[in-house]
Amino acid sequence: MSSPCALRASRAEPRWPRLGFALLALACAAPASVARPLAPGEDARGSASTQAPAGRSGEPRAKQLYDLHCVQCHGDTGDGRGTTKLDRPARSFRDGGFSFGNTRDALVKTIAHGIPGSQMPAFEGALEQEERALLADYVLGFAPESARAPTAKGTELVVLDRPVVVRGKLPAIEGHAAQRVRGLLLGDPSGLSFELDASDLRLLAVRRGAFVDRGDWENRGGDALRPLGRVVSSRGLAGSAWVRREREGMPAALRARLVATRIDGAHPKLEYELRDARGATVAHVVEVLGTANSKAGAGFARRMWIEAREPVELSLDIAPHGLAALVEARVHAALWRLDAGAELCVVRGLDSSERLQSGVGEARISFVARPGRPRWLAVESYPLAVLDAAAHAALQEESR
Ligand code: HEC
Repeated sequence: MSSPCALRASRAEPRWPRLGFALLALACAAPASVARPLAPGEDARGSASTQAPAGRSGEPRAKQLYDLHCVQCHGDTGDGRGTTKLDRPARSFRDGGFSFGNTRDALVKTIAHGIPGSQMPAFEGALEQEERALLADYVLGFAPESARAPTAKGTELVVLDRPVVVRGKLPAIEGHAAQRVRGLLLGDPSGLSFELDASDLRLLAVRRGAFVDRGDWENRGGDALRPLGRVVSSRGLAGSAWVRREREGMPAALRARLVATRIDGAHPKLEYELRDARGATVAHVVEVLGTANSKAGAGFARRMWIEAREPVELSLDIAPHGLAALVEARVHAALWRLDAGAELCVVRGLDSSERLQSGVGEARISFVARPGRPRWLAVESYPLAVLDAAAHAALQEESR
């Protein structure tokens, strides 16, 4: 789905030291949305009522769009009781409980990119930007006045149309042992944010919603950052993510060392080196973090360009936190059951001899990297609200 990026990357063929710069120009458009709008006349309610209940915007175009795309799950009155039976129903807009941000801008992003781990689809491809804005206002119109937040707090960092990167102490992540790490927080304009351990660039969690509260502008780095988004995926905390595999002998853990974070493109970007125990650089990686979208719903992707100093077999641990069991595997994609929920994982850019390996509690990809030409790999994760036939169908579709 994101192969245009791969093509552009491999054509660029940058030399080793210029890797980062050559990739600056890459702008990977998010894949088209797969959300299927109802056909005109297929309106779940079959109602042509134009009467707007009190307290909600009477904008006729917005109501039309809502009735076409949203009403089946969110209900006529925004109470979350639509005709589609959801495993975890959408909450009521009328209570103003927008847990992914209640500003207009936050709602526009939620509507465009969906909510990973829920049945809220991404409408980026199905609706125009202007239609999403109309719908955000319409949805806000359901909420009581007091629940609408027009502006962020003074110490809150807001991500607008460019990525934002912050470093600092991070509080423990829900579901993990209490632990503070040297943190790195990357805010994507889509409303996703990525929480990483700055010491080894391990991805700890992915959040959706508002970005971060710095607590105190005067005392930079002193107070812990307070990420504001809700965790939609939590990733591994233990062990090394990167390993060098040898034909003979033990696999050797590599340490990722940050060279630079970049905010020049549409998505946050990391440039790092993979170093062995002696501190020698084995490979250089440029990684872009952003949204992903599949039939299974909304997700996120790590897109990497990896170039080695000499031919080397590497493996990358891609197991999410709480990986319990493999449900179904294809060569380059798998459905996993997690302690809570499930996940569809799709790896792109592996060749026919390489595959995604998954066992109890572990999942990894192994591949060969070479000098001279950065190799492109993408790991897409789709946290799932339910593990149903649709999830299996998405696996088949994505692994074609
Ligand atoms: C297939 C069902 C479905 C459809 C269709 C759908 N939604 Fe949702 N939506 C959900 C679910 C489920 C949630 C709750 C996700 C959660 O809280 O984990 C949600 C959440 C939301 C939220 C976030 C609320 C919050 O807590 O911040 C907004 C805003 C939203 N939907 C707007 C829309 C709009 C606008 C449309 C139509 C363009 C739409 N939705 C269509 C299922 C759907």
